[in-house]
Amino acid sequence: MAQETETTVGPPRGAGVTGNRISARIAAVSPSVTLAVDAKAKALQAQGESVIGFGAGEPDFPTPEAVVAAAEAACRDPRNHRYTPTAGLPELREAIAIKTGRDSGLEVTPGQVLVTNGGKQAVANTFAVLCDPGDEVLVPAPYWTTYPESIALAGGVPVAVATDAASGFRVSVEQLEAARTPRTKVLLFVSPSNPTGAVYPKGEIEAIGRWAAEHGIWVVTDEIYEHLVYGGAEFHSMPVLVPELADSCVVVNGVAKTYAMTGWRVGWMLGPTDVIAAATNLQSHETSNVANVSQRAALAAVSGDLSAVAMMRTAFDRRRLTIHRMLNEIDGVECLLPEGAFYVFPSVTGIYGRELRGRIPTSSAELAELAIEEAKVAVVPGEAFGSPGYFRLSYALGDDDLVEGVSRLARLFAGG
Ligand SMILES: Cc1ncc(COP(=O)(O)O)c(C=O)c1O
Repeated sequence: MAQETETTVGPPRGAGVTGNRISARIAAVSPSVTLAVDAKAKALQAQGESVIGFGAGEPDFPTPEAVVAAAEAACRDPRNHRYTPTAGLPELREAIAIKTGRDSGLEVTPGQVLVTNGGKQAVANTFAVLCDPGDEVLVPAPYWTTYPESIALAGGVPVAVATDAASGFRVSVEQLEAARTPRTKVLLFVSPSNPTGAVYPKGEIEAIGRWAAEHGIWVVTDEIYEHLVYGGAEFHSMPVLVPELADSCVVVNGVAKTYAMTGWRVGWMLGPTDVIAAATNLQSHETSNVANVSQRAALAAVSGDLSAVAMMRTAFDRRRLTIHRMLNEIDGVECLLPEGAFYVFPSVTGIYGRELRGRIPTSSAELAELAIEEAKVAVVPGEAFGSPGYFRLSYALGDDDLVEGVSRLARLFAGG
């Protein structure tokens, strides 16, 4: 896995560090390639370039009005101007417990909820609490770029389990079993997946959960895309299907994707009370409480209905079908139809070796560089997710921009 993470684009681990000014632990962290791609696109835009950004993993819709109104009111309430309990506003913890029962069927108490600064902090807290040095965490690849970094920062060892388009980017019990060692402590599971949009069917989730329970392996399951499934695909929560995991499972979730609230920074982790208590203790020294105005906004979001996400889902579904069709029309590109989240993960190896604008790209990272420089189209290369040979494109952007962006790629890859 050390080798896997070294395939991420960006500076090699520890690059540019001299002497011991920066700790080895932090110097080893790779920058977030997805955020870097987005920053590059925005910088070009600021220079007046017409850039189409498929890089960012965020809905292009505004946060629902009722949520914004709740935040406005919260600003004026002095109760929100003060420190509040680290684990989250009691009303919000309760609302998250109720929402979880409503949406996934998992029954948790408010004491099993820790409100965090986005799902990202929930991921970091979880691995910090679960990993001792050398503990191995199985991470199906392609993986969201933050998982291996959080695991490594916690002293754990991320072990990539490779999947590809042939298996629908879904890992099997046989693969997990082959990767299991006496040091395996945790399995990271995410469905719908970032970056592939894969959604595991119920039977596969059950089988994987049973395997983990049987071997005493913890499951960290990331449910942040629970409401974004299309066609006949269905979301299922692993600890609901496999109740034996109740005492060895942490669920990560948040408001970012469901309510178009990426900037508000509210997520949560759900788990056994000892894990939640330990994570709360950790968070109390790191970030204290999540900003109260954001918590009040999240309270309005999770206590309300799901009409906003239903509207977004309709738009994403339409874009999903368009981008899938258009990408497959490009000679050299092959794209599976994703069933969830808002990403496609096409293979681009068929483009390698072509002369494009005087260059002959031989990797997805080089192709992505060409795309931004020559076509002003931002995509994230598969290297960022431990799977070279692919691009990740987010289709959470306007329909017209989507068509224009893929058309530009088609022209570029045709040598135009
Ligand atoms: C799979 C997955 N989990 C968690 C997150 C974290 O989201 P946030 O920290 O914005 O709540 C993201 C964001 O891109 C994600 O894709």
